[in-house]
Amino acid sequence: QELDLKLEMLEKGGYDHFMLKEIYEQPRSIRDCLRGRIYPQQGNVQLGGIKEYADKLRNLDRIIIVACGTSWHAGLVGEYLIEEYARISVEVEYASEFRYRNPIITEKDLVIAISQSGETADTMAAIELAKEKGATIFGVCNVVGASIPRVTHAGVYTHAGPEIGVASTKAFTSQVTVLTLMAFYMAQQRGAITQSKLIEYLTELDAIPTLIEKALKTNDKIKEIAAKFKDSRNCLFLGRGSSFPVALEGALKLKEISYIHAEGYPAAEMKHGPIALIDAEMPVVFIATKHSSYEKVISNIQEVKARGGRVIAIVSEGDTTVKDMADYVIEIPQTGEAFVPLVATIPLQLLSYHIAVMRGCNVDQPRNLAKSVTVE
Ligand code: AGP
Repeated sequence: QELDLKLEMLEKGGYDHFMLKEIYEQPRSIRDCLRGRIYPQQGNVQLGGIKEYADKLRNLDRIIIVACGTSWHAGLVGEYLIEEYARISVEVEYASEFRYRNPIITEKDLVIAISQSGETADTMAAIELAKEKGATIFGVCNVVGASIPRVTHAGVYTHAGPEIGVASTKAFTSQVTVLTLMAFYMAQQRGAITQSKLIEYLTELDAIPTLIEKALKTNDKIKEIAAKFKDSRNCLFLGRGSSFPVALEGALKLKEISYIHAEGYPAAEMKHGPIALIDAEMPVVFIATKHSSYEKVISNIQEVKARGGRVIAIVSEGDTTVKDMADYVIEIPQTGEAFVPLVATIPLQLLSYHIAVMRGCNVDQPRNLAKSVTVE
């Protein structure tokens, strides 16, 4: 038994849980995901797995992304990126809904199925349906040789390495990385981006693992914040633009491992309902980095404060405006707007982790959840 324990400690690389190990692995997993795929100085993206489809990508009118859970959140980030940079219209669907609602799909469509495990039953069924209707299917999977990558026409692996914790962490950021690469690859193929812009973006993307290393240094501060909020019964996560899916992911992480009820919303939707929940008990987590919706998010923070809410804000390094308003701020390194989800996700993962540990929850194997959901 002692040997088993020692073996487990060894597998966890000295961390208390697989989830924490996997959170800390992210600088490396993203580097692995980028390796051999970007050439910043030349402004070039190479995705060997889908290169045979370059023609298809040039003539595409619509992309449908199908996934479940965290992978669906990655898909929502992908929607922002692909529409912004490649200028292709994107729809993101829950695989479980898509498969049962007679969707309109034609041979002209590209379906991107995202799945860490590559075994999720609903995602698999959505692929089969789209395939029958003649669409081209790309997979974004982590487990090499799993069922989904075997049935797709082409794809890009995330190369995050094995993810043991049921709560997805490094797989999510790797999925977002692959979708970022796909957005730039499609933009390049379609001539939707200038070479100088591509050089600029790829150079920034190349630096993301280093910025994540810095973001991980907020761990001690996050632990202190977690101690204040560990007994909360509800929590709201708010963000705008591509930080909206980050808010959804923050909420999912908290509820699945700490069993605290949490909701993610686009910050402006707050006034259409969730604002009624705000009181001095409920933490409201904002993603308020200095990007295009910064000013708008600040007004949303003021609305929460005016109602006595308690605000935890993820801000860009050096921000003083939000610091004066929020109860707690977590500073993350400033990045280009395209890369905010990759960095802003890190403190949210750590926040859920510490809250769950403080509540005595089984972080790596939350109740009622399986790592891959192979049944309907
Ligand atoms: C995430 O933390 C969850 N455990 C869950 O939502 C998961 O992302 C979902 O079941 C999809 O799994 P997949 O990526 O393996 O298809």
